[in-house]
Amino acid sequence: MNARSVILTGGAGYIGSHIAVLLIEAGYEVVIIDDFSNSSPAVIDRIEKLSGIRPQLVEQDLSVPDCVDGVSAALAGRGYAGVIHLAGLKAVGESVAQPGRYYRVNLGTTLNLLSIMEKIKCNNIVFSSSATVYGELNPPPVDESGKIGPTNPYGFSKLFNEQILADYAAANQGFQVINLRYFNPVGAHPSGLIGEDPKGIPNNLFPYIAQVAVGRREALNVFGDDYDTVDGTGVRDYIHVMDLAEGHLAALKFALEDHGGGVACFNLGCGRGYSVLEVVNAFAAASGKEIPVKVVGRRAGDIAEIVADAAQAEKILGWKTQRDLNQMCIDHWHWQEQNPDGFA
Ligand code: UFG
Repeated sequence: MNARSVILTGGAGYIGSHIAVLLIEAGYEVVIIDDFSNSSPAVIDRIEKLSGIRPQLVEQDLSVPDCVDGVSAALAGRGYAGVIHLAGLKAVGESVAQPGRYYRVNLGTTLNLLSIMEKIKCNNIVFSSSATVYGELNPPPVDESGKIGPTNPYGFSKLFNEQILADYAAANQGFQVINLRYFNPVGAHPSGLIGEDPKGIPNNLFPYIAQVAVGRREALNVFGDDYDTVDGTGVRDYIHVMDLAEGHLAALKFALEDHGGGVACFNLGCGRGYSVLEVVNAFAAASGKEIPVKVVGRRAGDIAEIVADAAQAEKILGWKTQRDLNQMCIDHWHWQEQNPDGFA
């Protein structure tokens, strides 16, 4: 029985790859389950280069209905400390256009994973949830007791996953669930070897700015400057992906202590909001590049402001963010500059 093994679904993705490196560095054996639908096999090489150890890979789409037996067989033969579950679709706009696909994939993946966990007798799961479950019902900062109200199918799929996991924990004595509600992950590993590599036109602010800075796009479209915020542009709580990855290790450690099972939920954010224009200025300063902007209309589904109250994570997990906006910009830019075309 080796309780130092961890299963990492979606481990080849942006956030997963950073968690994989930290897990290996902390002495865990990592098994990544990924189908590379939104990531590159080159990520596995980079994880190995950074950590010195190649994680085991099970290449599989976990939403496929009959994958349970095959994956369970691939994982058999050792004990697992826990699962960190990140695999899923994550584009808000796409989820509005393709709700069925989002529910099938994001819920199907979790249901299959729970069946696999039952077969391999693993009782701990850290789940990648999102601040998007809060919607816009709470004045900032929002803590974990804030009102719940997603505004799109992606957000509902996160919420429904939290519910499935809670029901499962209630029905299975000793089953431990930790939901981590991420705010806006940005930045990259300081080596510049791994980072965010969105396919197509980036949906999110940082990768879009980075592609403008590196010359792949002309100007950033700022989605509205008439919000009731510091300068009229949207305000978000950006969190460095290394801080976020460290939050997962803290959560796993907590899950491994004996709490008798049940559900715990933590916001992972900095507790500080920045506007789009503040981010643009910080990125321009960190990169030494000009970032032309063009103000356009509001993006459907956007909210004015969301900022985390992350006090609970500090109190219970002993975790808080260490890296500021400048560091996020420096590391994001370093990654983009070193890899102008991503992993291609
Ligand atoms: N923005 C622009 N131009 C762009 C992209 C974004 O002005 O090209 C603005 C948005 O309007 C918003 C801010 O930058 O004000 C941040 O937008 P992102 O798309 O980077 O992030 P969101 O806050 O919309 O969404 C992110 C994740 C979701 C997650 C959500 C949780 O993408 O997966 O945070 O709050 F659900």
